[in-house]
Amino acid sequence: MRLDKLISNSTVFTRSQTGKIIRKGDVSVNGSIIKKASFKVSPKDKVQYLGIEINLPKLRYIMMNKPMKVVCSTADGEHQTVLDLLFIAKRDNLHIAGRLDLDTTGLVLITDDGQWSHRITAPKHKQAKVYRVTLSEMISNEAIGQLETGLRLKNEAKNTLPAQVKKIDDKTILLTLREGKYHQVKRMLAAVGHHVEQLHRQQIGKIILDPNLKAGEWRELSEDEIQLF
Ligand code: URA
Repeated sequence: MRLDKLISNSTVFTRSQTGKIIRKGDVSVNGSIIKKASFKVSPKDKVQYLGIEINLPKLRYIMMNKPMKVVCSTADGEHQTVLDLLFIAKRDNLHIAGRLDLDTTGLVLITDDGQWSHRITAPKHKQAKVYRVTLSEMISNEAIGQLETGLRLKNEAKNTLPAQVKKIDDKTILLTLREGKYHQVKRMLAAVGHHVEQLHRQQIGKIILDPNLKAGEWRELSEDEIQLF
């Protein structure tokens, strides 16, 4: 996080007062004076104002089982947002690492650690996302083959990356993708002639949705889960 943001989040200083004390040379990070407000720091760093250590807030890492009809955005005029379901302080500092559609359920990761969420969402990291997809019709082996090989979606210049498909029953598959184009699952299934009835994300990277979380419930991630990214 930026040094000025971290200090204004943790002290009574406003963002502009924080900018002033940094430029004045009153702030040090791990013993060195830092005069750049945009300097990147993490809660592990020792930040001092005039030699007094500032207690930095703990970063937060949350998993939620997103219910239907709740949007993955920080504000929405019409629907409840996933952040509305979190009754915790300083909710506005949180963001969502990988959104789901209004009618998609399942695993959503929420944090105020931008570097951590970047490792989850940046295309170059190719994190696997596992979706349970329920279709209105039986799926053919040919359609599964096309998903596994990669196919061209409308208005896209390149084929989709090869996906992994595990058939659960005639109308249900587990689909693993390593990219995240807009409405990708629904568009891929539409491209092979299928309509998605239900979509549920159960895994991102190695983080699996906790089966004890009912729709709308959430919990903090364990230290081991945080370290997976
Ligand atoms: N793909 C979709 O089509 N929708 C989602 O919510 C997630 C992936």
